[in-house]
Amino acid sequence: MVMAEVPAHVPADRVFPFDYHNDPLIAEDVHDGLLKLRQAAPPIFWTPTHGGHWIVSDSDLISSILKTPALFSSKQLQIPPREDAPRMIPESLDPPEHLLYRHLMMEYFEKSRIAHLQERVSYWTDTLLADLKGKQDCEFVDAVASRLPVYVFMEFAGFPLDRADDFRALVDGMFRSSDPMQRQQFAMRIMGELQQLIAARMAEPKDDILSKLIEADFQGRKLNFEELMSIGFLLFLAGLDTVTNAMTFGIRHLARDASFRAKLRNNPDKSPEAVEELLRRYTFPTLPRQVTEDTELGGVSLKAGDMVLCLIALVGLDEKLNPDALAVDLDREKRTHFAFGTGGHTCLGRHLAKMELETLYRRWLEAFPDFEIDPSRKAAAPRGGAVMGIPELWLRLPV
Ligand code: HEM
Repeated sequence: MVMAEVPAHVPADRVFPFDYHNDPLIAEDVHDGLLKLRQAAPPIFWTPTHGGHWIVSDSDLISSILKTPALFSSKQLQIPPREDAPRMIPESLDPPEHLLYRHLMMEYFEKSRIAHLQERVSYWTDTLLADLKGKQDCEFVDAVASRLPVYVFMEFAGFPLDRADDFRALVDGMFRSSDPMQRQQFAMRIMGELQQLIAARMAEPKDDILSKLIEADFQGRKLNFEELMSIGFLLFLAGLDTVTNAMTFGIRHLARDASFRAKLRNNPDKSPEAVEELLRRYTFPTLPRQVTEDTELGGVSLKAGDMVLCLIALVGLDEKLNPDALAVDLDREKRTHFAFGTGGHTCLGRHLAKMELETLYRRWLEAFPDFEIDPSRKAAAPRGGAVMGIPELWLRLPV
């Protein structure tokens, strides 16, 4: 890893090398690794990796960054920043422009507006679980977690379902390939699919989010093709791999923790609490922001242009906010987490994501009341980066 030179405004005692993609600290378990990092490094520190950037592990500092877009912009959603960063509507926009698009999109993501998808989410969940019946083991990511969000997303966005398997192959290629060139090629093919779909829905609208966005009034006009492509692709990036990882962290916990599993199995109505608790304990995105003007934060001077990475996983693991934070407790009185972000960019798809997770946990425990991590397989190394995850999860199922 190439280390960037430390800029003059960074004090020596705030430098701590940490590679958020591949650091040895997170090589075995990303959450354990981040907790060790929080103990070892200052609450805001500079790492010379990936071109050099700040990392923030303190909940209050993270909260103030995410709630102050005038100082911490979303324009650059990757570290290192890119001159030619694509406009990802609405995630890479700042106020006031961000609010215009967010208001337009918000209503289509409300709980009541997505309620009709419940039946289809249950259908896809049951279909995938039925394929596992009678099997002694399974690789959960391949069998369920990478499929379910794709099928649900296709219905939500309006992709033709007879293309489900082709589409999943493209999604898999983009999210799971480690070669950047290959990933780019898959992204281009997905853009091609999106382009065709938008053109088809412009010609003949149906009952899906793209058709609704095509017909919507935006500031006295219709959204243009470039805006529709940007929103469509962002939904794609935001709504697939995230749900896959949430499912994998959640099911891994259920496999490891027999008493939590039994409690949830006996109280399926507590699935919403289980979803929140598992997201709190295993929050997995990391959020970048770019400093817009010279400012002070947590006792350090930040310069305009500096990149800041917020370790939101550590908010759910903050003992001040969630006593006994490592314990996964269905009856926790109050839980605080930023799994869906906070401030103006809080996840629009959270109700849909929760619906998918709740349905999965309920139906999974009905189908497999007891199951465990397959002890004969070596656990796959976790993935760091913007969306941290577990690439493979082998389970042993009861016969
Ligand atoms: C468990 C699953 C999910 C997690 C953990 C998650 C997490 C997040 C987070 C942390 C943000 C804030 C990003 C930032 O502040 O820069 C975000 C934004 C967003 N998410 Fe999700 N997400 C999930 C599922 C979904 C789904 C299913 C969709 C849609 C189909 C979706 C659509 C969006 C959109 C559109 C934004 C941007 C909102 C804005 O910029 O105003 N997400 N998500």
